[in-house]
This record gives sequence, structure tokens and C-alpha cells, in this order.
Amino acid sequence: MNFDQLFELAWEVRQNAYAPYSNFRVGAALLTKDGKVFTGCNVENLSFGLTICAERAAVTAAIAAGYAEFVSIAIVSESVSPVSPCGACRQVLSEFVPANEDMEVRSANPAGDIFESTLNALLPRARAGILGT
Ligand code: THU
Repeated sequence: MNFDQLFELAWEVRQNAYAPYSNFRVGAALLTKDGKVFTGCNVENLSFGLTICAERAAVTAAIAAGYAEFVSIAIVSESVSPVSPCGACRQVLSEFVPANEDMEVRSANPAGDIFESTLNALLPRARAGILGT
């Protein structure tokens, strides 16, 4: 499973995004350490703060299926520049990075621009010092 395939799945699930308030539809495809893929789209709410981002929706799908170690995530949106995950999603994703590893994070837009980073770069020291670790 490579990023081209992950992006394809992310575009597919993005079609199911529920985004009537922002009209900004996002899709995400999350690759587990075991090579399984779980997808998610954003789910908005009339009470705006309850919105769930595509990335966190993918995380909950994976956890519900019994997978809790993720190595890559692909995110897509129709934006001028590719999105980068919000702070809440960075923190939630950091919970599920395999020990001593990092997570590849890439996002794309329809123009084919790619933003490429890692979770450690996007959220350094996410777990350091908390609960004695
Ligand atoms: N959104 C995501 O789902 N993921 C991102 O990385 C950026 C933002 C959603 C949340 C909200 O439904 C809409 O995009 C506008 O912020």
C-alpha cells in the first residue's frame, strides 16, 4: 500500500463528507502497521464545535476494528494548498504512533500539490513528560 493508493481511498471517502456548514469536504486514509487501511471523512454539526475531522474519524474506525498502530495518513481536500491536520488531530494521532517510530503525514489537493511531513515534525514532544513517559 503506497501513498498513491491511500490518496485514492481518501478521495473516495471524501465523497461521503458531511460538511453543510463549511462546504469544505475532507477525506483521510490511515495505514496501520499491519498494512490495513481505514478511512474517514469530516462530520460537521449545527453546534460547530462538535465537528469531527476526517483524520479523527479514520482513527475511530481503525480503533473500532481492533487496530491501534498507524504508520501513515493521507488527507485530501479541495483547497488551494493541501491542508495540514489541526492541533486536535495531531494530538489524537500521536496516541497511536508505534513505539520509537514516526507517522508519515501527506495531504493533497486536486491540483496535485502535496504537503509532506511527519507527526513528530508537526507536533514535537507530544507525549514527553506526561504520565512519567
Ligand atoms: N477539517 C478536517 O476534517 N481535516 C483537516 O485537516 C482540516 C479541517 C474539516 C473540519 C471542518 O469540517 C472543515 O474541515 C473546515 O474546517
